[in-house]
Amino acid sequence: MSERRSTLIIGGARGIGAATAVALARAGHDVTISDRAGDDPRLPYALATRSDLDVVVAAARQAGTSGQITGVVADACDEIAMREVVAEIEARTGRLDAVIVTAGVIAGGVPIWELPQGALDAVLDVDLRAVIVAARAGIPALLRRPTPRSGRFVAIASTAASRGLPMLAAYCAAKAGVVGFVRALAAELRGSGITANTVSPGSTDTAILAETARLYALAGAAEFAPQQPIGRLIEPAEIAELVAFLASPTSGAITGADHAVDGGLSI
Ligand SMILES: NC(=O)c1ccc[n+]([C@@H]2O[C@H](COP(=O)([O-])OP(=O)(O)OC[C@H]3O[C@@H](n4cnc5c(N)ncnc54)[C@H](O)[C@@H]3O)[C@@H](O)[C@H]2O)c1
Repeated sequence: MSERRSTLIIGGARGIGAATAVALARAGHDVTISDRAGDDPRLPYALATRSDLDVVVAAARQAGTSGQITGVVADACDEIAMREVVAEIEARTGRLDAVIVTAGVIAGGVPIWELPQGALDAVLDVDLRAVIVAARAGIPALLRRPTPRSGRFVAIASTAASRGLPMLAAYCAAKAGVVGFVRALAAELRGSGITANTVSPGSTDTAILAETARLYALAGAAEFAPQQPIGRLIEPAEIAELVAFLASPTSGAITGADHAVDGGLSI
């Protein structure tokens, strides 16, 4: 069995998940990156592709020391598929130490009563249900590690969890749900050596923010920058720094908490 930590990043083909894969590879983890790697017909914008996934795997391999870096296509909402991903990781690396959920989608731009049902379902499925699926598929593997454990569950929530953002009500509901779910998960994991936390980014320069700008009929994502006290967009790598720390054994005193990396957007 490998002495390296083995970490699964769900929804890591681009954006914050991809930056997290590179950060964890650099920290010496075996990293498995899963992604749908295909569009969601319920949404009008493009999700990551298989070639995005291949690019991240190559970048993480280049950044890494000795860890195994693997990409796998799987829908984060499909519990059977995610259980298979976890089983394959355990068979290949001999262990699973951390599960990180960065899969996410955005829809809105209209009042909630005008949001197409398919878009509503996509937001609730990917932004909330996939986090619950990740815990149901992944926590049993974290619990299979010998004691004393240092298992880690980290999900990306959002400033939208704590602020009422107009025309993004479904997204706000899903992200608040993630924070509530992970808080309860931390309580369920009492005494196990496994922690559960959320990270809530502010406006971060990724495809989701570009789509959010389109939903608000803005010229581009840069128009969100002045809303944040730091006066600029956040880079995915800046979110990844904290996620990588929370995935490490040294973060063991931190659980059940939501951590803002939001340039002050939530103050
Ligand atoms: N960018 C921001 O400003 C911002 C702010 C707050 C929170 N977030 C959250 O950060 C997380 C990462 O998003 P991002 O900003 O990197 O955007 P992104 O669109 O670049 O990344 C999202 C990834 O999730 C994948 N994905 C979508 N549906 C999936 C599914 N069903 N199964 C597996 N993978 C799926 C996509 O293919 C893509 O690779 C999301 O949860 C998002 O809600 C982003």
